[in-house]
Amino acid sequence: LRETDPVFKVMFPHGEFGWIITRYEDAVEVLKDPRFSKDVAKRYGPENQSIFVNNMLFSDPPDHRRLRGLVQKAFTPKLVADMRSHIQEIADDLLNNIGSRDKMNLIDEYAFPLPIIVISEILGVPLEDQDKFRLWSNYIIDASNSDHAEMFEQHAREFTEYLTAWFAKVRENPGKDLISQLVIAEESGQQLTENELLGVVSLLIIAGHETTVNLIGNGVLALLEHPEQRDLLIQQPELIHNAIEEMLRYNGPVEFSTSRWALEDIEFRGQNIAKGELVIVALDSANRDDAKFKDADVFDITREKSSHLAFGTGIHLCLGAPLARLEGEIAIHTLLARFPEIQLQTDVTQLEWRPGMIVRGVKEIP
Ligand code: HEM
Repeated sequence: LRETDPVFKVMFPHGEFGWIITRYEDAVEVLKDPRFSKDVAKRYGPENQSIFVNNMLFSDPPDHRRLRGLVQKAFTPKLVADMRSHIQEIADDLLNNIGSRDKMNLIDEYAFPLPIIVISEILGVPLEDQDKFRLWSNYIIDASNSDHAEMFEQHAREFTEYLTAWFAKVRENPGKDLISQLVIAEESGQQLTENELLGVVSLLIIAGHETTVNLIGNGVLALLEHPEQRDLLIQQPELIHNAIEEMLRYNGPVEFSTSRWALEDIEFRGQNIAKGELVIVALDSANRDDAKFKDADVFDITREKSSHLAFGTGIHLCLGAPLARLEGEIAIHTLLARFPEIQLQTDVTQLEWRPGMIVRGVKEIP
């Protein structure tokens, strides 16, 4: 597609036509162009929307600025950097549980629990409910897969009921966590409605559950498939920052952006995108565009800083990026230091990938 049909019309799994953008340069342009709106409530009517879109990811300015601003303070680079030693403790504890065993399931025992413990602590939700959150967020994010679509309603209802009850508890006894801060903002009535509170918190829970796990999983997988790169990283651990950027570029956890829609008729690279039509950016494709990255299909942890699109760009640039980078760096560095001989215990073609269009990650890595 990148070579022959870089702006390509397709039917999406939910039955609507839209456009897929696959080249790097076009991707950046679409992600930064305000004529491509993210406000889905405006397009479909607010009554047809699930609560999961009442947040910054699905809004345009000025709502976008207000909603993002409320959460931004919890994710400043400084606040995140201050979490380094705690994230290290979590990584060490998880690997201590593996001990001297010669087998582990990398996803279930390490890549998944690490970011979940961190996000649960930031938000202030009980860690013992993590199995429920995992189930709910998996179903919600994989809703474009038809098996999951049937279960979507039920899980979405349970998830919102849980959160509503949780907010009531927090209102009575607020703490220092992020949900308490947002509940206080909601109570002041000016900054956040009840629906937005649900939308923002569910976005953070889902983003926290579905992304960093796959940075760690896909990143380790790339190293296991390229043992010379794994050995290089073990010999030169200071390459870890670069290595994380290359893992994000080469094997990014978010395959497609969320959808945008044209606010007006737009002529784009010779195609006519009609007002109202959807546009999706293939982030992982843009990250393999040879016009931007030399030998783009080569995994090279010494590659120069690459301005990949794994976190998107423009006003919706991932808010959790500093946290995700830090978690990925600590998780992979600690894993290799502890288990330098780590190997995949199955053929890579046997690995099962997650369904759904947005998240790219494997279900298990033995
Ligand atoms: C937005 C990727 C981790 C919170 C985004 C977008 C991408 C992305 C591509 C933009 C989507 C679009 O424009 O359509 C990733 C990746 C992650 C990661 C690859 C891990 C490696 C996180 C984490 C959090 C988070 C840990 C927070 C807990 C958000 C939020 C937005 C966002 C709130 C919406 C920002 C806005 O609309 O202004 N992320 N994300 N992400 N991400 Fe992440």
